[in-house]
Amino acid sequence: MQTLSKWVFICMSLLWPTFSHAQRVVPAPALTAYQQECSVCHFAYPPGLLPAESWKSITDSLPKHFSTQVLLNSDTQSLIADWLQTNAVNPVWVGTQMPPDNRITRAEWWLGIHKVSKKLPAKVWKNLYVKSPSNCAACHRGAPSGEYNAKTVLIPS
Ligand code: HEC
Ligand code: HEC
Repeated sequence: MQTLSKWVFICMSLLWPTFSHAQRVVPAPALTAYQQECSVCHFAYPPGLLPAESWKSITDSLPKHFSTQVLLNSDTQSLIADWLQTNAVNPVWVGTQMPPDNRITRAEWWLGIHKVSKKLPAKVWKNLYVKSPSNCAACHRGAPSGEYNAKTVLIPS
């Protein structure tokens, strides 16, 4: 019996790293207008990745949108704006602090995870497939469904 519990203990210790690092998940609710209008140039970011105030600032600034213009008819714009307000439910690891420039990629939590390292050398960001840090799906295949996992991340080389 003692030998058995010893083995159980050894097996659990070996398997622990597999379970201890859960992936980070953010809900990815769908709204047809959002999928249609906001995944033309990039994938549709799950609303929980930014605080509601940042989404408000983004939708209030339209048609001006970062380096480009996004022109929506006013009904669609308010539909999307209201939906983002309701669905910007932030997981603890995202928090509710507005990042500079309303960018996920400028949030402290994001910068903390994506520091230059052996796994993430600076040249990655110049890769033609990655193009921009905002292109989460280049490395995180589960990005559109809100799944981010350090273990399964694929870095284009
Ligand atoms: C005409 C193309 C286009 C459309 C349509 C578009 N975007 Fe963007 N979006 C951009 C560009 C360009 C950037 C800046 C990306 C970069 O710096 O690489 C951006 C960036 C963003 C970012 C910040 C990403 C980061 O860096 O953290 C958010 C959030 C965002 N868009 C939300 C939206 C929403 C919401 C809609 C729908 C209303 C939308 N986008 C529609 C072109 C577009
Ligand atoms: C060039 C590739 C690349 C891009 C683009 C990228 N990431 Fe990552 N991401 C990584 C790597 C590598 C890790 C794992 C870091 C580590 O192991 O410390 C990671 C980890 C994460 C994690 C933590 C996952 C966990 O298991 O705890 C989250 C959340 C995340 N990224 C979100 C994003 C979001 C959101 C975007 C887009 C705005 C993005 N990432 C863009 C490479 C990328």
